[in-house]
Amino acid sequence: MELYAKFDVLLQKALEARENAYAPFSNFRVGAAILGKSGRIYTGCNVENTSYSLTICAERVALFKGISEGEKAFTAIAIVADTDEPIRPCGACLQVVNEFQDDLTVVMATLKGSRKIKKLSELFPEPFRIK
Ligand code: THU
Repeated sequence: MELYAKFDVLLQKALEARENAYAPFSNFRVGAAILGKSGRIYTGCNVENTSYSLTICAERVALFKGISEGEKAFTAIAIVADTDEPIRPCGACLQVVNEFQDDLTVVMATLKGSRKIKKLSELFPEPFRIK
């Protein structure tokens, strides 16, 4: 499939996943979909908690679903939220996704359809590394 068509599929999946967001504390619903090197797509939504700091972002839910299904690396991630400008993944998600990526493309979109596409290396040029 042509790359941009693939991004459309990813965004649609992220949009659908956003419907399942559990966000009663912030009321800020996020959907994500990540494309594994195998071609499979894994989705996620944010899941909040009464103990606020235990909240997990949509991006990490999608990533961890992929890892737990045996995916080793990812090539693109899409995230969608209801904002004026597309949101970027938070720093924690950027660090975590960096561990398992192969030149990751980050597709960020709003419900109204505005879109930004960047490489992870642009958004997060200097991740924490030991070696
Ligand atoms: N959130 C995400 O799911 N992804 C991000 O990249 C940033 C923030 C969630 C966490 C929390 O449930 C809500 O958005 C407000 O911060």
